[in-house]
Amino acid sequence: LDTDESIVIGMLGCGVVGGGVADRVLSGITFRAGRLRLGGVLVRDLSKPREPSRVRQHLTTDAERVLNDANIDILVECMGGVEPAAKHVESALRRGIHVVTANKALIADRGARLTAIAGEYGVALRYEAAVGGAIPVIRTLEHLAECDEILEVGGVINGTTNFVLSAMEGGRPLEQAVRDAQRAGFAESDPSTDLEGIDAAHKLAILSATAFGAWPRWESIARRGIREITLDDVEYARSRGCRIKSAAWARRIDRIAIVASVGPTLIPIDHPFAAPRDAENVVLAIARHAGPIILGGVGAGREATASAIIGDLADILRELGRKNSGAPDNEETRYA
Ligand SMILES: NC(=O)c1ccc[n+]([C@@H]2O[C@H](COP(=O)([O-])OP(=O)(O)OC[C@H]3O[C@@H](n4cnc5c(N)ncnc54)[C@H](OP(=O)(O)O)[C@@H]3O)[C@@H](O)[C@H]2O)c1
Repeated sequence: LDTDESIVIGMLGCGVVGGGVADRVLSGITFRAGRLRLGGVLVRDLSKPREPSRVRQHLTTDAERVLNDANIDILVECMGGVEPAAKHVESALRRGIHVVTANKALIADRGARLTAIAGEYGVALRYEAAVGGAIPVIRTLEHLAECDEILEVGGVINGTTNFVLSAMEGGRPLEQAVRDAQRAGFAESDPSTDLEGIDAAHKLAILSATAFGAWPRWESIARRGIREITLDDVEYARSRGCRIKSAAWARRIDRIAIVASVGPTLIPIDHPFAAPRDAENVVLAIARHAGPIILGGVGAGREATASAIIGDLADILRELGRKNSGAPDNEETRYA
């Protein structure tokens, strides 16, 4: 990329997260490498109302119109699901297009294959937004894994279950708490993926891969959901000085195996995992030399997740700038 060139961002998906990213790009972001410009944006239904409405002129239902744009530099994937997202991401990587994705189902399922293809074609594949929303979890673990040995990693990483369990502490039975979460925009109309621990298992697989350097099969993570938790259980936890949290945890054993599980757990009130309320997340890593490192913040939502994606775009462009010029990166980024 030459200085002053615009950097064209193609997108797959323009829903909660994609809409947030498109809004930020259309509002104007200039990196050292140039100004971000929005290319084609893939959606299913052109007639849906969109926020921001000025994204409409970029919309298409034809993925090839996004990927075949000769000017596209980076693809941002926020359509969700494994297929057809995997097919499109793979196709982009093979065309030499860098990819940023928020899609934990995709990365948990195909991370090993897609990172290998990205390596083969010399392009970046970044997925900070897939775990922990705005919290810089992936880049922190990558850095820690480079300079230390990560022994354990985990956290409270599903905002929906945390919202539901927090509401139950306020006396709401599970079904009502789930409806509260749906009304507040923290649960989907079908909340099974969250309530059954599938989303947390996806994220734990990604955390494990980043921390331990090998991709586990997310299906083999021991998993229990929170559907059977009652107000009596919540009260019992309180009487023992604990909270019930859906905790995800992975531990490396002798460098040869990873033990990993997701499920409702009694957490002492003074433990970091007891702290997140509502849709907040917390991630804890324990490294041999650095000891415990705790990260927390907003784990989901349009603005927080878009922020993580913009961060990945910045990283890719900074890295390219370094490769191209060999000069130190000392110019400021300007955000709208
Ligand atoms: N929501 C969050 O807080 C959050 C946080 C972190 C990560 N994520 C991840 O981000 C991704 C997107 O989540 P979201 O909440 O933004 O989802 P969403 O609101 O349902 O948006 C999905 C978008 O992708 C489009 N799309 C889906 N399937 C398509 C297909 N087959 N062909 C063309 N377009 C398709 C949809 O088009 P239409 O609009 O026309 O239907 C929509 O614009 C998911 O992987 C999710 O796990 C979400």
